[in-house]
Amino acid sequence: MSEQVPVIAVDGPGGAGKGTVCRLLAHQMGWHLLDSGVLYRLVGHAAQLRGMRLDDADVIAGLAHKLPVRFETRAGELSIMLDGQDMTLAVRSEEAGRAASIVAAWPAVRAALIDRQRAFAEPPGLVADGRDMGSVVFPQAGLKVFLTASVAERARRRYKQLKEKGMDVSLPALSRDMEERDRRDSERHVAPLQAAADARILDSTHMGIQDVVAQIVSWARDAYPAVQSR
Ligand code: DC
Repeated sequence: MSEQVPVIAVDGPGGAGKGTVCRLLAHQMGWHLLDSGVLYRLVGHAAQLRGMRLDDADVIAGLAHKLPVRFETRAGELSIMLDGQDMTLAVRSEEAGRAASIVAAWPAVRAALIDRQRAFAEPPGLVADGRDMGSVVFPQAGLKVFLTASVAERARRRYKQLKEKGMDVSLPALSRDMEERDRRDSERHVAPLQAAADARILDSTHMGIQDVVAQIVSWARDAYPAVQSR
Protein backbone atom coordinates (compact mmCIF):
# COMPACT_ATOMS: atom_id res chain seq x y z
CA MET A 1 0.00 0.00 0.00
CA SER A 2 1.32 3.42 -0.82
CA GLU A 3 1.32 5.89 2.06
CA GLN A 4 0.46 8.53 -0.56
CA VAL A 5 -2.89 7.09 -1.61
CA PRO A 6 -5.69 9.19 -0.11
CA VAL A 7 -8.06 7.23 2.11
CA ILE A 8 -11.44 8.09 3.61
CA ALA A 9 -12.15 5.66 6.46
CA VAL A 10 -15.83 5.29 7.34
CA ASP A 11 -16.53 3.25 10.46
CA GLY A 12 -19.61 2.67 12.56
CA PRO A 13 -22.24 0.14 13.61
CA GLY A 14 -24.30 -1.95 11.18
CA GLY A 15 -27.27 -0.25 9.57
CA ALA A 16 -25.90 3.30 9.99
CA GLY A 17 -25.97 3.66 6.20
CA LYS A 18 -22.24 3.13 5.65
CA GLY A 19 -22.74 0.78 2.69
CA THR A 20 -24.88 3.16 0.64
CA VAL A 21 -22.96 6.25 1.75
CA CYS A 22 -19.59 4.69 0.85
CA ARG A 23 -20.82 3.50 -2.55
CA LEU A 24 -22.07 6.99 -3.42
CA LEU A 25 -18.97 8.59 -1.97
CA ALA A 26 -16.61 6.35 -3.97
CA HIS A 27 -18.58 7.13 -7.12
CA GLN A 28 -18.56 10.86 -6.47
CA MET A 29 -14.83 10.92 -5.70
CA GLY A 30 -14.02 8.46 -8.53
CA TRP A 31 -12.18 6.32 -5.95
CA HIS A 32 -12.00 2.61 -5.18
CA LEU A 33 -14.30 1.09 -2.58
CA LEU A 34 -13.52 -1.46 0.13
CA ASP A 35 -16.51 -3.06 1.88
CA SER A 36 -14.52 -4.82 4.59
CA GLY A 37 -17.64 -6.34 6.18
CA VAL A 38 -18.00 -8.49 3.06
CA LEU A 39 -14.65 -10.12 3.79
CA TYR A 40 -15.76 -11.07 7.33
CA ARG A 41 -19.14 -12.22 5.99
CA LEU A 42 -17.40 -14.38 3.38
CA VAL A 43 -15.15 -15.97 5.98
CA GLY A 44 -18.12 -16.72 8.27
CA HIS A 45 -20.27 -18.01 5.43
CA ALA A 46 -17.50 -20.09 3.86
CA ALA A 47 -16.68 -21.61 7.26
CA GLN A 48 -20.31 -22.64 7.72
CA LEU A 49 -20.51 -24.11 4.21
CA ARG A 50 -17.41 -26.16 5.00
CA GLY A 51 -18.87 -27.35 8.31
CA MET A 52 -16.16 -25.61 10.38
CA ARG A 53 -16.73 -24.55 13.97
CA LEU A 54 -16.86 -20.75 14.17
CA ASP A 55 -15.00 -20.83 17.50
CA ASP A 56 -12.02 -22.69 16.06
CA ALA A 57 -9.94 -19.54 15.58
CA ASP A 58 -6.87 -21.16 13.99
CA VAL A 59 -8.84 -23.10 11.40
CA ILE A 60 -10.95 -20.04 10.54
CA ALA A 61 -7.83 -17.84 10.30
CA GLY A 62 -6.33 -20.39 7.90
CA LEU A 63 -9.45 -20.13 5.78
CA ALA A 64 -9.29 -16.30 5.90
CA HIS A 65 -5.66 -16.36 4.71
CA LYS A 66 -6.39 -18.29 1.54
CA LEU A 67 -10.00 -17.30 0.97
CA PRO A 68 -10.55 -17.87 -2.78
CA VAL A 69 -12.58 -14.69 -3.34
CA ARG A 70 -12.86 -12.60 -6.50
CA PHE A 71 -14.71 -9.31 -6.87
CA GLU A 72 -16.11 -8.93 -10.39
CA THR A 73 -17.93 -5.98 -11.86
CA ARG A 74 -20.51 -6.85 -14.51
CA ALA A 75 -22.64 -4.15 -16.06
CA GLY A 76 -21.76 -1.83 -13.17
CA GLU A 77 -22.89 -4.37 -10.53
CA LEU A 78 -20.41 -5.92 -8.14
CA SER A 79 -20.43 -9.72 -7.92
CA ILE A 80 -18.70 -11.59 -5.12
CA MET A 81 -17.35 -14.93 -6.28
CA LEU A 82 -16.12 -17.56 -3.84
CA ASP A 83 -14.54 -20.65 -5.33
CA GLY A 84 -16.28 -19.83 -8.62
CA GLN A 85 -19.71 -19.58 -6.95
CA ASP A 86 -21.69 -16.35 -6.83
CA MET A 87 -22.11 -15.33 -3.16
CA THR A 88 -23.33 -11.78 -3.74
CA LEU A 89 -26.75 -12.39 -2.20
CA ALA A 90 -25.76 -15.09 0.30
CA VAL A 91 -23.24 -12.86 2.11
CA ARG A 92 -25.96 -10.27 2.76
CA SER A 93 -28.11 -12.66 4.77
CA GLU A 94 -28.55 -12.12 8.50
CA GLU A 95 -27.07 -15.58 9.04
CA ALA A 96 -23.84 -14.58 7.25
CA GLY A 97 -23.83 -11.34 9.29
CA ARG A 98 -24.10 -13.28 12.53
CA ALA A 99 -21.31 -15.66 11.49
CA ALA A 100 -19.19 -12.64 10.45
CA SER A 101 -19.58 -11.01 13.83
CA ILE A 102 -18.41 -14.22 15.56
CA VAL A 103 -15.33 -14.84 13.40
CA ALA A 104 -14.45 -11.11 13.45
CA ALA A 105 -13.79 -11.41 17.18
CA TRP A 106 -10.73 -13.65 16.62
CA PRO A 107 -7.44 -11.70 16.47
CA ALA A 108 -5.91 -14.27 14.09
CA VAL A 109 -8.81 -13.86 11.66
CA ARG A 110 -8.48 -10.06 11.72
CA ALA A 111 -4.72 -10.30 11.20
CA ALA A 112 -5.25 -12.67 8.26
CA LEU A 113 -7.41 -10.07 6.50
CA ILE A 114 -5.25 -6.96 7.07
CA ASP A 115 -3.01 -7.18 3.99
CA ARG A 116 -5.95 -8.10 1.77
CA GLN A 117 -7.72 -4.93 2.93
CA ARG A 118 -4.66 -2.67 2.55
CA ALA A 119 -4.20 -3.88 -1.01
CA PHE A 120 -7.39 -1.99 -1.94
CA ALA A 121 -5.59 1.35 -1.39
CA GLU A 122 -4.77 2.11 -5.01
CA PRO A 123 -4.66 5.48 -6.79
CA PRO A 124 -6.55 7.72 -7.14
CA GLY A 125 -7.94 6.94 -3.68
CA LEU A 126 -9.95 4.62 -1.47
CA VAL A 127 -13.20 4.82 0.46
CA ALA A 128 -12.97 2.14 3.17
CA ASP A 129 -16.14 0.97 4.93
CA GLY A 130 -15.89 -1.02 8.17
CA ARG A 131 -15.43 -1.02 11.93
CA ASP A 132 -11.68 -0.49 12.32
CA MET A 133 -10.71 1.24 9.07
CA GLY A 134 -9.52 4.43 10.79
CA SER A 135 -8.21 2.83 13.97
CA VAL A 136 -6.32 -0.23 12.67
CA VAL A 137 -6.27 -0.86 8.92
CA PHE A 138 -5.67 2.67 7.59
CA PRO A 139 -4.42 4.70 10.58
CA GLN A 140 -2.84 7.16 8.11
CA ALA A 141 -6.23 7.99 6.50
CA GLY A 142 -6.55 11.74 5.95
CA LEU A 143 -10.24 11.64 6.82
CA LYS A 144 -11.86 9.36 9.38
CA VAL A 145 -15.61 9.39 9.85
CA PHE A 146 -17.59 7.51 12.50
CA LEU A 147 -21.10 7.20 11.08
CA THR A 148 -23.81 6.26 13.52
CA ALA A 149 -27.60 6.35 14.07
CA SER A 150 -30.01 5.17 16.78
CA VAL A 151 -30.65 1.40 17.06
CA ALA A 152 -34.32 1.86 16.12
CA GLU A 153 -33.43 3.78 12.97
CA ARG A 154 -30.68 1.34 11.99
CA ALA A 155 -33.01 -1.64 12.42
CA ARG A 156 -35.67 0.11 10.34
CA ARG A 157 -33.18 0.79 7.52
CA ARG A 158 -31.80 -2.75 7.53
CA TYR A 159 -35.39 -4.12 7.49
CA LYS A 160 -36.25 -2.04 4.44
CA GLN A 161 -33.05 -3.04 2.67
CA LEU A 162 -33.56 -6.78 3.26
CA LYS A 163 -37.26 -6.62 2.31
CA GLU A 164 -36.29 -4.93 -0.95
CA LYS A 165 -33.97 -7.87 -1.64
CA GLY A 166 -36.98 -10.17 -1.15
CA MET A 167 -35.74 -11.60 2.16
CA ASP A 168 -38.14 -12.70 4.87
CA VAL A 169 -37.27 -10.71 8.03
CA SER A 170 -39.00 -9.40 11.16
CA LEU A 171 -38.31 -5.93 12.57
CA PRO A 172 -38.27 -6.93 16.28
CA ALA A 173 -35.91 -9.83 15.53
CA LEU A 174 -33.65 -7.50 13.53
CA SER A 175 -33.57 -4.98 16.40
CA ARG A 176 -32.60 -7.69 18.87
CA ASP A 177 -29.94 -9.04 16.50
CA MET A 178 -28.56 -5.58 15.93
CA GLU A 179 -28.20 -4.87 19.65
CA GLU A 180 -26.58 -8.25 20.17
CA ARG A 181 -24.13 -7.68 17.31
CA ASP A 182 -23.32 -4.12 18.49
CA ARG A 183 -22.52 -5.55 21.89
CA ARG A 184 -20.27 -8.28 20.45
CA ASP A 185 -18.51 -5.86 18.08
CA SER A 186 -17.97 -3.26 20.84
CA GLU A 187 -16.89 -5.60 23.61
CA ARG A 188 -14.39 -7.74 21.72
CA HIS A 189 -10.80 -7.27 22.82
CA VAL A 190 -9.23 -6.78 19.42
CA ALA A 191 -10.21 -3.80 17.26
CA PRO A 192 -13.52 -3.16 19.06
CA LEU A 193 -16.07 -0.98 17.34
CA GLN A 194 -15.18 2.51 18.52
CA ALA A 195 -14.45 5.85 16.92
CA ALA A 196 -10.76 6.54 16.30
CA ALA A 197 -9.53 9.41 18.49
CA ASP A 198 -9.18 11.62 15.40
CA ALA A 199 -12.50 10.59 13.75
CA ARG A 200 -15.34 12.99 13.03
CA ILE A 201 -18.59 11.67 14.49
CA LEU A 202 -21.60 11.90 12.17
CA ASP A 203 -25.05 10.94 13.55
CA SER A 204 -27.29 10.16 10.56
CA THR A 205 -30.49 9.38 12.54
CA HIS A 206 -32.24 12.47 11.16
CA MET A 207 -30.24 12.93 7.96
CA GLY A 208 -30.92 11.84 4.39
CA ILE A 209 -28.25 9.87 2.53
CA GLN A 210 -27.41 12.74 0.17
CA ASP A 211 -26.81 15.11 3.10
CA VAL A 212 -24.50 12.58 4.74
CA VAL A 213 -22.54 12.16 1.49
CA ALA A 214 -22.35 15.93 0.96
CA GLN A 215 -20.99 16.44 4.49
CA ILE A 216 -18.27 13.80 4.00
CA VAL A 217 -17.31 15.17 0.56
CA SER A 218 -16.94 18.60 2.12
CA TRP A 219 -14.66 17.20 4.84
CA ALA A 220 -12.72 15.28 2.17
CA ARG A 221 -12.06 18.51 0.29
CA ASP A 222 -10.56 19.97 3.46
CA ALA A 223 -8.49 16.84 4.10
CA TYR A 224 -7.31 16.47 0.48
CA PRO A 225 -7.46 19.93 -1.14
CA ALA A 226 -5.86 18.69 -4.37
CA VAL A 227 -8.58 16.12 -4.96
CA GLN A 228 -11.45 16.84 -7.32
CA SER A 229 -14.81 15.13 -6.85
CA ARG A 230 -17.29 14.53 -9.67
O1 DC B 1 -20.78 -4.17 8.02
P1 DC B 1 -21.26 -5.59 7.98
O2 DC B 1 -22.63 -5.79 8.59
O3 DC B 1 -21.19 -6.19 6.62
O4 DC B 1 -20.23 -6.41 8.92
C1 DC B 1 -20.43 -7.76 9.22
C2 DC B 1 -19.71 -8.10 10.53
O5 DC B 1 -18.30 -8.04 10.35
C3 DC B 1 -20.05 -7.19 11.70
O6 DC B 1 -20.56 -7.96 12.79
C4 DC B 1 -18.76 -6.59 12.15
C5 DC B 1 -17.69 -7.32 11.40
N1 DC B 1 -16.72 -6.39 10.83
C6 DC B 1 -15.58 -6.15 11.54
O7 DC B 1 -15.42 -6.67 12.64
N2 DC B 1 -14.62 -5.33 11.02
C7 DC B 1 -14.79 -4.74 9.83
N3 DC B 1 -13.83 -3.94 9.34
C8 DC B 1 -15.98 -4.95 9.10
C9 DC B 1 -16.94 -5.78 9.62
